[in-house]
Amino acid sequence: ESFRARKINPDTPIFAIIGNPVSHSRSPEIHNGNFRRDRREALYIPLLCDDPEEIPAFALEANLLGASVTVPHKEAVRRILQHEDDEVSAVEACNTIIRDSRGWTGLNTDVSGFIQPIIPVLREIRESRGEVKAAVIGAGGAAKAAAYALLREGCELIILNRTPRRAEELAEQLSSIFPGKVISGVLGPDSRSLLQTYRYMIVQTTTVGMAHGHAGDPLSFYDFTGDEFLYDIIYTPAVTELMGRAENAGCRTKNGWEMFQRQAALQARRSPKLLTNM
Ligand code: ATR
Repeated sequence: ESFRARKINPDTPIFAIIGNPVSHSRSPEIHNGNFRRDRREALYIPLLCDDPEEIPAFALEANLLGASVTVPHKEAVRRILQHEDDEVSAVEACNTIIRDSRGWTGLNTDVSGFIQPIIPVLREIRESRGEVKAAVIGAGGAAKAAAYALLREGCELIILNRTPRRAEELAEQLSSIFPGKVISGVLGPDSRSLLQTYRYMIVQTTTVGMAHGHAGDPLSFYDFTGDEFLYDIIYTPAVTELMGRAENAGCRTKNGWEMFQRQAALQARRSPKLLTNM
C-alpha cells in the first residue's frame, strides 16, 4: 500500500487496524480500495498496538476517526468506549471503534458480517425442515459472535469444543438471552450422533485448518453424509482440509471471505466522514 505525499495533510482522516500482529491483515487493502473508489482522501493503516488505552491519545495527535480492532484487543478495547452497540454488549467483544461528537462508540460488525452470507441457506433449511438446528465448532471469540448471530436468527444450537467446559460456559451465557435454545458438548466421537442431528448447518470457528501452522481437520471423527452445509469462517486457505472433505462428500460449503468483506462493508457504512465537535 502506498499513499501520495502531497495529498496528505493534518486534516486527512486516518483509519487503522489495531492489534498485534496486524501486518498480515487484508483490512488496509479493502478499506483503502474503497476510499480510492469513492474518491475519498483518507488513509487506512496497520497500527501495531500493545494496549488499546494508547488509542485516545494517538487519535488526538493524529486525525484518527475510527479503527478495526483485532486480536488481542477485542475485549480490552471496550474500556475506552463511551457507547457501544447491543452486539458488542451481547458478545462482549468489539471489532470496530468510531470517533464522533459523543466520543468513542464500539461496534461489532463480525456478528452481521457472519450471518449475512448464509441468510438464504437458513431460509432454505427452515422451509424444508421447519426449523434450523446448527452446530458451532469452537467456543472462542469467533464462536461467540457466530453463535449469537445464529440464535438471533432463530436457530437452535449445539456448541462443540475440544475443551467442553468452555462450550458449556458459552452455552450457559447465551442461554440467559435465548433460554432453551443452546446445548453444548465435547468435540469428538462422543458427540457424533448429536452432530448428525445438527448437521444441516455446521459452522467451523476454530483456528484448525488455517494456513501458517494450524493445519488439520477439527471434525476428523465425523463422516459427511452429503446433506450438510459447511460454513468454515477461515479464508486462508480458501479451501480448508475440512471443506475439501465435505465437498468430496457432496456437501455445499462456504468459506469466510464473504464474511470478511461484509463486515468491512458494514464498517465503511458506519465510518465517520469528518470529526465534529471534538
Ligand atoms: P478466537 O477468538 O479466534 O475464536 P480462541 O478464543 O483462542 O480464538 O479460540 C480458539 C478456538 O479454537 C477454541 O475453541 C479452541 O479450542 P479450546 O477451547 O479447546 O482451546 C479451538 N482450537 C484451537 N486449536 C485446536 C485444536 N488443535 N483442536 C481443536 N480445537 C482447537
